[in-house]
Amino acid sequence: MTRIAVLASGRGSNFRALAEAERAGVFPGQIVLLLSDREDAGAFEIAKEFGIPALHISETRRRARLDPETESGYLAACREASVDWICLAGFMRILGQPLLSAFEDRVLNIHPSLLPSFPGLDAQKQAWSYGVKVSGCTVHLVDRGIDTGPIVLQRAVALDPDEGADELAGKILAQEHLLYPEALRLVLTSEWRREGRCLIFPQSEKDG
Ligand code: GRF
Repeated sequence: MTRIAVLASGRGSNFRALAEAERAGVFPGQIVLLLSDREDAGAFEIAKEFGIPALHISETRRRARLDPETESGYLAACREASVDWICLAGFMRILGQPLLSAFEDRVLNIHPSLLPSFPGLDAQKQAWSYGVKVSGCTVHLVDRGIDTGPIVLQRAVALDPDEGADELAGKILAQEHLLYPEALRLVLTSEWRREGRCLIFPQSEKDG
């Protein structure tokens, strides 16, 4: 069984969706660890509810990129728990070499836009302010850039004319909760390969 660590900084609704999907047997894996840079992250309550071991590893620096020493702490915690895959779920820090080398092509992230449009913070608001008619969410492998890694799955969400940025964000979030478990299932169950920055999934497994 694949052992998964989730890294989350905030309310943790995607973490909850993954934990619920695990219980429902959506993907062949077990979430064995929650790690957070924020002591007050709502994700800790969810970890308690699901009996998932959780650890706060503080990052005192204000900048988004994890300090290498702190990142070593994250890596050590993952190794200690024999983690195979990492899922970022609203983790507000940028990973660097220690974690990305140790978990090459085994770190997933979910982003609330159709990448490569609107990377970075407040993606839903960026999209709404731009005037798009369709946005959505993306699950991708994490590389050294910000929301630039190879795409696993995407789901589109149409924006109605009278909807505001908050309504768009709500509609996207509902799709995120479905897409993330599905993407995790896909990468854990199919013989995918990488060609350049593209991920190739065998057709039968994608449809199955
Ligand atoms: C989600 O919108 C996710 O796409 C983005 O951060 C937000 C986290 O929300 N990366 P939650 O903590 O999972 O509720």
